[in-house]
Amino acid sequence: SDSLYKAMRSRGRSFIGTALTIRDNEPAEPKIIKQDFNSITPENAQKWESTEPSRGNFTLADSDRYVQYAKNNGLQIHCHNLVWHSQLPAWVTDGKFDNRTLIQVMEEHIKVLAGRYRGQCTRWDVVNEALNEDGTYRESVWYNTIGEAYLPIAFRLAAKYDKHAELFYNDYNLEYNNAKTEGAKRIVKLIKSYGVKINGVGYQAHLASEATPTAPGAAPDQKTLEAALRATADLGVDVVYTEIDLRMNTPATPEKLAVQAAAYERVAKSCLAVKRCIGMTVWGISDKYSWIPGVFAGEGAALIWDENYNKKPAYKGFLKGI
Ligand code: XIL
Repeated sequence: SDSLYKAMRSRGRSFIGTALTIRDNEPAEPKIIKQDFNSITPENAQKWESTEPSRGNFTLADSDRYVQYAKNNGLQIHCHNLVWHSQLPAWVTDGKFDNRTLIQVMEEHIKVLAGRYRGQCTRWDVVNEALNEDGTYRESVWYNTIGEAYLPIAFRLAAKYDKHAELFYNDYNLEYNNAKTEGAKRIVKLIKSYGVKINGVGYQAHLASEATPTAPGAAPDQKTLEAALRATADLGVDVVYTEIDLRMNTPATPEKLAVQAAAYERVAKSCLAVKRCIGMTVWGISDKYSWIPGVFAGEGAALIWDENYNKKPAYKGFLKGI
């Protein structure tokens, strides 16, 4: 196949996606999307700071463009996200809301976002990054004010305002099949114990393809990746790689690019090895715009097209794994 998503479909799975920031000055991007992807995730446009900068003041024009883009191009859209501690405006985080009022604030937000795109979002990341590395709950405004019940409450509200979307819990570093993965299992069970719907778990897969200062161990081996996916899939939910990028110490060399290609291949293979792994999304198209160099000093080149929109060895590796 010469198309990532067509290869994925031919394997009986649902999608290959990319994070998208719409750019009018990069004509290569819509072409690549048409050829290789059948799903998009808005990279920033639907986050709380972008959509409700002050209470009840909803700014949705940008978000609307992404939903429209997906519709116009016949793509799935992985909507991202409803409840998160980050890119959350100060009016929510300042700690002035009591339990009851914060739940109301959450409902107002979910009602407008999930309700507006009812029937149009293929999937919603309902709660993003609720866990610490040791599997305990992160001390966000949500957890500190409402307790763990904020998770089932968010999912119940998402289902109330969009009964069609598949509802996901999404987090990073779930790929190591460790304490944090256990935390994700606990969350799936918790939501189910409330009698509330959860359709899947998103494994972000922001991983290092080789040892780097921020990740002394490279991306997990294939067995570990598979076991990590199965950990939650065995609870009866779908699993997805939602934000794949496999970074390296820059600058790239042919050797590092080969190591990266092998890492992309095993990430893809691990998904295909698990029945309930329905799709994979890479966190952007070109290295030119990847968020990695801005956050991980000295690291980058994490995607499968280089800064000039040429396919890297990682593209072939990824396709081979599918
Ligand atoms: C990142 C975006 O790529 C950046 O443009 C932005 O500045 C910060 O957020 N986990 C997530 C994504 O769920 O929303 C983040 O995206 C990357 C980590």
